[in-house]
Amino acid sequence: MWNNITSCSLWRLSPSFMSSRIQTLTPLFIRHYKDFCKNRQTIWTLRNSLCQVLKKTVPTLTCNMFPHCFVSNKARYGQYKKTFPVLDGSIPSVCEHVFEENLRNSEACIQSFVFEIRYSELLCKVSKGGGESAILRHTQRNKKLLVRERLRMLLDDETFLELSPFAGFDLPYGDVPAAGCLTGIGKICGVWCVFVANDATVKGGTAYPISVKKQLRAQQIAIQNRLLSIYLVDSGGAFLPLQAELFPDQSHGGRVFYNEAIMSAMKIPQVAVVCGSCTAGGAYVPTVAEETVIVDKIGSMFLAGPPLVKAATGEDISPEDLGGASMHSKVSGCVDHFASSEKEAYECVRNIVLTLNYELPPEETLEYDDPLYSAEELLGLAPRGYSYTLHIKLILSRLIDGSRFQEFKAEYGTTLVTGFAHMEGHLVGIVANNGQLTHDASLKGSHFVQLCSQRSIPILFLQNTAPHAPEPTSLSQCGRSFDPNFLFLWPNARVALVDSRHISTFPQARDDDCTGDDSELKHLKEKLDEESSAFHSSARLWDDGIILPQNSRKVIAQCLTIMKQQKYQIASLQHYPVIRL
Ligand code: COA
Repeated sequence: MWNNITSCSLWRLSPSFMSSRIQTLTPLFIRHYKDFCKNRQTIWTLRNSLCQVLKKTVPTLTCNMFPHCFVSNKARYGQYKKTFPVLDGSIPSVCEHVFEENLRNSEACIQSFVFEIRYSELLCKVSKGGGESAILRHTQRNKKLLVRERLRMLLDDETFLELSPFAGFDLPYGDVPAAGCLTGIGKICGVWCVFVANDATVKGGTAYPISVKKQLRAQQIAIQNRLLSIYLVDSGGAFLPLQAELFPDQSHGGRVFYNEAIMSAMKIPQVAVVCGSCTAGGAYVPTVAEETVIVDKIGSMFLAGPPLVKAATGEDISPEDLGGASMHSKVSGCVDHFASSEKEAYECVRNIVLTLNYELPPEETLEYDDPLYSAEELLGLAPRGYSYTLHIKLILSRLIDGSRFQEFKAEYGTTLVTGFAHMEGHLVGIVANNGQLTHDASLKGSHFVQLCSQRSIPILFLQNTAPHAPEPTSLSQCGRSFDPNFLFLWPNARVALVDSRHISTFPQARDDDCTGDDSELKHLKEKLDEESSAFHSSARLWDDGIILPQNSRKVIAQCLTIMKQQKYQIASLQHYPVIRL
C-alpha cells in the first residue's frame, strides 16, 4: 500500500512567482475569508475565485492545484459516500469447494508451519524476548522494565501496530527467537509516533544484522509518513561475533545515525530515552537524537565500558562516573533531561511531545458502515494457489465500508479491478489483481494510479500475481521495490519468482550434476516451498508483518489514519538538522 502525495500543491510554487501573485490574491482572500466566517459555504466561492485568478495568470494551472483538505467541507461531503454501488459478495454455490479448500489451507498456514509452531505461539515466543533467565537478569538484577511495559507507560492507549514481530525468528543466531529490538507505531498525546525500542533481554540489546534492518525499516516508515520517532535505547552496541555484517556497508549500522540527521533536517522530530547501558552504537542513537532523557542509575552511555577503560588505560572507573545520568546531564551535556525513574522519563517524553507544536485536528469520529459480509470468511477466500482464486470482489466486499465500491473501468482489463471505496471512513483507491496481468489491465492500472495521485488518495494494492509458467516472473513484481508505505502478508501468501510446481520445467533449475536426478529436484522444490512461505519472508523483513485476513480491515484503516497525520504538521522553511554541540 502506498500513498501518492500530489505534487500539485499551491505552496510548492516558486517564491518569486508567488510574491507577484499574492498581492492580487490577498484582498480577495480576506474578503471571502470574512464571508467564510459568516457562512462556511463561501469557502467554495473562495476556491473558485482563487482558481479563476490563477487560471488567468498561469494558464497551466488548474483547479486541482488546491490541496483538497483546504477547500473541502468533510462533514457535508462525507454524507454522499453511501451512494457507491454495493458489491454482491455472496459466494456462488459452484465455488463452495474452492472456499472449503482455501479455508483448510488458511487454517493450516496459521496453525502450523515449517517449525511446527503455531502463529499465536510464535507471537507469544517472540514477545518473551531472550527467555526466562534473561528476563530475570533484566528485571531483578538490573532493575529495568521490560520493553513492552515501557511502551505501555508511554502510549496513550493499547493501540499499537507492531511491525515485523517475526523478524529474525528463524535465523541462525543460536537460541534467540527475536531481533532484539521492537518496532511499531502508537500514539503519544494524540500524535502517531514510530518506536524503536531495544530489548536488552536478547543478548544485552545488541544489534544483529536483522536488528539493524528492522531499525532502518522503522526509520524509513517514519520518513515516508513523517512520523515523530521515539528511541528507547538499552543496547550494548554491535553483536560482536557478527560485526563484519553489521557496520561497514551502506545499509548497515551507520545508516541509522545518518538517517537521524536526515530526518531532523526534514523536520521529523526524534526523542530518545537512555533506559539501560548503552555502549558504542547504542550510545550514538541518543546522542544524535534531537532531545534526550536519561534514567538515573540504570541509564549510561559510553564508547567503551569500564572493563575496556581498565584494559586500555589501567583506570578503575564506575559506569556511573564514566557515563551515568549525572555525568551526562551535568558535565558532558549529551543528554537534556535527568529522570530519577523510568516512569518519570516516560512522563518527560510525553511532555516533550507537547512542545513539538503539532496542530492536530479536533478528534473526529469518522462515521462508517461495516462490510455487509463477515470478515471471518476471508479465510476461505485467501487463495491456496492460483487454481483456487475466487473473484477478488468477494474479498473486497468483506473489507470495505458497507461493501460499497465505485468501480473504475469495470468492463476493461478485467484481470485488474480498480475503484474507490472507504475503509473505516477513509477514502481509498483500490488496485486488486483478479487474474493474470494483461496489457489492457496494466493500462487501466496506470490510469487509475494517476487519478489517485492527482486527487491525493492513498492506494491499497491487493496483490496476487500468478507466475507465468513456465517462465519465471519478473523481479519488478516484488512489492518492496516500489516503496509502499506499508506492506503486509496473509499467512497463505507465497513470495517467489517461480511456482515450485513448475520447477521441473526450468532447465536452469538443474545443474550439470543433478540433471535428471529426481531427488535433487525434490530437494529444490522443498527449498523453494520453504523459502517462498510468508513466514520466511517476514523473518527477513521483506514485509512489515503477517496479518490475519480477518484483521486486515482494522490494520489497513489504522495505516490510513497514520498516513494522514502528516497533513497536520506545521511546515518550516529551514532545512538543516538540530546539531548537538
Ligand atoms: N556482543 C555479543 N554479545 C554480547 C555483547 C556484544 N557486544 N554484549 C553483551 N553480549 C551478550 C553476553 O555475552 C550475554 O550473553 P549470554 O546471555 O549468552 O550469556 C548477554 O549479551 C548479556 O550480557 P551480560 O553482560 O550478561 O548482561 P548485562 O545486563 O550485565 O550487561 C551489557 C549488558 C550490554 C551492558 C554488557 O554485556 C556490555 O557492556 N557488553 C559489552 C558492550 C560492548 O562493549 N559493545 C561494543 C560494541 S562495538
